[in-house]
Amino acid sequence: MNEIAVTSNQVDKPRSFDVEKVRADFPALHQEVNGHPLVYLDNAATTQKPNAVIDALVDYYRGYNSNVHRGAHYLSDKATAAFEEARRTVSAFIHSLAAEQIIWTRGTTEAINLIAATWGRQNIQAGDVILVSTLEHHSDIVPWQMLALEKQAKVVPLPLTTSGEIDLNAFTDLLDSRVKLISLNHVSNALGTVNPVKEICALAKQYDITVVVDGAQAVAHFPVDVQDLGCDFYAFSGHKLYGPTGIGVLWGRRELLDAMPPYHFGGEMIERVSFSGTTFNQLPYKFEAGTPDIAGAIGLAAAIVYLTSLDRKAIVQHEHELLAYAIEKAKNIDGLVRVGTAEHAAGIFSFVVDGTHPADIGMLLDQQGVAVRTGHHCAQPLMESLGLPGTVRASFSMYNTKADVDSFFNALQKVLQLLR
Ligand code: ALA
Repeated sequence: MNEIAVTSNQVDKPRSFDVEKVRADFPALHQEVNGHPLVYLDNAATTQKPNAVIDALVDYYRGYNSNVHRGAHYLSDKATAAFEEARRTVSAFIHSLAAEQIIWTRGTTEAINLIAATWGRQNIQAGDVILVSTLEHHSDIVPWQMLALEKQAKVVPLPLTTSGEIDLNAFTDLLDSRVKLISLNHVSNALGTVNPVKEICALAKQYDITVVVDGAQAVAHFPVDVQDLGCDFYAFSGHKLYGPTGIGVLWGRRELLDAMPPYHFGGEMIERVSFSGTTFNQLPYKFEAGTPDIAGAIGLAAAIVYLTSLDRKAIVQHEHELLAYAIEKAKNIDGLVRVGTAEHAAGIFSFVVDGTHPADIGMLLDQQGVAVRTGHHCAQPLMESLGLPGTVRASFSMYNTKADVDSFFNALQKVLQLLR
């Protein structure tokens, strides 16, 4: 692939944000569940998809379904052009220097596994320390544990403050020459804490520590600039960004990606294969063995074009107001304890209610058409540190409204009358 400057089909035109207009673009929001209008507050698990994304998928499959980089025919050329344009769209979206630094994966989980299996195997040695925050999702813990087992290295958790933020004093105390990697999320999926990634990267640089950022819960909520953050790797999933499932992105600093061995082996990732030996393709294809998720990449780009056609500052403000409104309304519920009270939080209201189990609350909310997630949210070490079996998590998106928050709390009041 030739060096591709950051371009974008994110047209520079005046942007606005009108929540009702946005809602009209999301067909799945407009349905009844269990006889009630759906109140979808499970956006941290996955977001609904706008028509623009659904149409992009249908257009590809109906109109130009074909394999990429392989065919000598019109449809393949068209699919390849759309697929590579999607890569440039992602590149511009996170301010990557070049599109070659965008590696398609199945999602954040695969991106982190890729780093652990390639960069990790190449760079982590016996006695090294890998720091992960206590806020991490299992997908940002287990790959490092497996790597540490293999290499006789150690995974050390970063402690939290009582508000669910990384304890920066404890973090600074843990920094020394044994620490080779820090992996942390940009936004906690369980509590909504926004981690001070830029500050952590700056501290890590002083010790030459590589930083991996799991951006799965961040990219839908606020603009991300990987160069400004100063991280080494950044990963996210399409489906939490209004895009399709099964597609995700790994961004890495070019010199790191260039030095890493391939992850999977097969077609596309090779330069030349012979029985006397095989050489590998250049970036990004070195990491993209096999037929990729072409429709997924095109659909993800459609999601990004859609999102960036809106006023993102207004979205940040809107989601902030939804969370503040929820926090205010929660004060009227006896026994409700909000879990995670970070000063900087994005889109997530996690809570428990004295004398009740989160799973019962979730099930009874569903009966009133309110979709939330309950349980440990794939963050068991976090729940253990909080001394909780789990929480109820209402997670907001740009298309939620204060009316949704009202419906949620009205439903919750009824649930608690039944349970207590
Ligand atoms: N990681 C997703 C969540 O937090 C599935 O719900």
